[in-house]
Amino acid sequence: MTAGLSQGAGLTVDEVSVSFGGLAALSDVSLQVRPGEVVGVIGPNGAGKTTLFNVVCGFVNPQSGTITYNGQRIDRRKPHHLTQLGIARTLQGVGLWNGLSVIENVMAGGQAKTHTGVASALLGLWRSSREETHLRQRAGELLHEFEIEQFADWNPKALPYAVQKRTAMARALMAEPTLLLLDEPASGLSKGEMDELSHLVIELRSSASVLLVEHHMDLVMSTCDRLVVLNFGQVIAHGTPAEVSANPEVTTAYLGNEVHAMGTGTGTGASTGASDA
Ligand SMILES: Nc1ncnc2c1ncn2[C@@H]1O[C@H](COP(=O)(O)OP(=O)(O)OP(=O)(O)O)[C@@H](O)[C@H]1O
Ligand SMILES: [Mg+2]
Repeated sequence: MTAGLSQGAGLTVDEVSVSFGGLAALSDVSLQVRPGEVVGVIGPNGAGKTTLFNVVCGFVNPQSGTITYNGQRIDRRKPHHLTQLGIARTLQGVGLWNGLSVIENVMAGGQAKTHTGVASALLGLWRSSREETHLRQRAGELLHEFEIEQFADWNPKALPYAVQKRTAMARALMAEPTLLLLDEPASGLSKGEMDELSHLVIELRSSASVLLVEHHMDLVMSTCDRLVVLNFGQVIAHGTPAEVSANPEVTTAYLGNEVHAMGTGTGTGASTGASDA
């Protein structure tokens, strides 16, 4: 059953398979994210990246294989249980509540730490004023860290996409996760904003490990400690960005000249050409 992966600290995906009808979206996929690591998952369209993300988040159940976090089985757990285990995520879209201001959205991310439901947060029924003060203070610190404090009282809908994405990441961090799962965080961002995102993720390493599913090669190359390359639902390569970019199977199967250029430090800022939808 195991692929020789020790199921200790961090996230271990061990021989996970998922199929939709007759289609094998993931076949015996194994990977590890150790504490303090930033691991990127890349691959062409339809490779299975989102399916892998969804299976780790608890949105999709694997047909076989196991997923553990710090030695505990997490496959078949509901997403809200994962928050309690220290796992937070941002989804491909930003998914903010437009009825709440930026700071209230971020405060709502701290709900798992308190005992108040998101629904009551939406209604403004905070459990106690002391709790609200604490959440507001912590959210304010995160807004400061993400340099979006000037937008605290704005409706997210009225703000640039990059600010919304920062708000979504700050909200995920309110739960003080030890593992952050990011699904295409760079979609819709400019090159400059992507560089800032890369710095933010690198800084996160001191408090959390990160699993980054991403199309943009220059972001993964500059941000990740290790990469896992999927193709047709299978891991075709893994290693450091330099190792992966030098792997001929990866180059032919998917990345072509682009990754070669990235690996030699002459990145062009190009993506795989996949949609940012
Ligand atoms: N809910 C679903 N029902 C049926 N097939 C699905 C479902 N989700 C994904 N698939 C199929 O599984 C395969 C893997 O899809 P997935 O979305 O995981 O790929 P991806 O690597 O995220 O692709 P992209 O880069 O286009 O986002 C694809 O062939 C896709 O059509
Ligand atoms: Mg996808």
